[in-house]
Amino acid sequence: MSLSGLFLILFLLFHLSMNVTAAFSGAAYNTVCSLLGANWYAVVGTFVLAAFVIIHFVYAFMLTLQNRKARGNDRYLISARPKNVEWASQNMFVLGLIVLLFIILHLYQFWYHMMFAELAGVEGSINPQDGAQFINYYFKGNIIVTVLYLIWFTALWFHLTHGFWSAIQTLGWNNTIWIKRWQCVSQIVATIICGLFAVITIVFFVKGVGGDLSQCQDACHSVCQSACDAAQQMGGGCK
Ligand code: HEM
Repeated sequence: MSLSGLFLILFLLFHLSMNVTAAFSGAAYNTVCSLLGANWYAVVGTFVLAAFVIIHFVYAFMLTLQNRKARGNDRYLISARPKNVEWASQNMFVLGLIVLLFIILHLYQFWYHMMFAELAGVEGSINPQDGAQFINYYFKGNIIVTVLYLIWFTALWFHLTHGFWSAIQTLGWNNTIWIKRWQCVSQIVATIICGLFAVITIVFFVKGVGGDLSQCQDACHSVCQSACDAAQQMGGGCK
């Protein structure tokens, strides 16, 4: 659980840096989107990521069942929470489940209309490589999606504040002095990740991606065009 959790935090940092780019420049974001797109390395990355999410969830499920079995019907001998026990630590499974449900919605909005659409050759009203346009479509002026995402980031924040230091503890990198420090680092990491995701979501709601949208389409077009030229030089075709 700890290793899969730490891997997912690394993915979040990568994903966050990509999305922060979009707040400044939709064109830069689209260049990155087109470079990843449905290329083989991006598809392999998606499979690896999916495997880690499944491992993380299955272990969490088994651990929760084991805990319930060990405690029988009386889940807690004393129902009041001791002062030094975080609320998040007692609700990790439920928090994780909330995060996962929102991920399913998120994958439908973006992954399904971008990578999947490209692989399956599905044509929609937005070019599957035009991530900037998708962000504007879902967030700009849309209070419902924005609030749903902010709820998602709140659940993720609670999950990470406990998850990060708990993973470090499982790996054995702690002692009585360091445990307090890791708990503090955990709060900082969770706040940076979820805080920045929340800020950019609000930016997308208020004014959409950074820069001029036609520049985003140009960026997307020029990357597609150079990939097309390279394919033709090698004797291949291109749609
Ligand atoms: C403002 C917030 C966010 C935006 C605008 C956003 C945007 C996107 C976009 C455009 C894609 C498809 C292109 C790509 O693969 O990069 C994507 C994929 C994805 N997002 Fe997000 N995202 C946000 C937050 C999150 C968060 C908080 C999580 C996880 C908790 C997440 C998990 C994922 C996953 C798992 C994928 C599929 C990645 C893959 O295909 O390998 N996203 N997101």
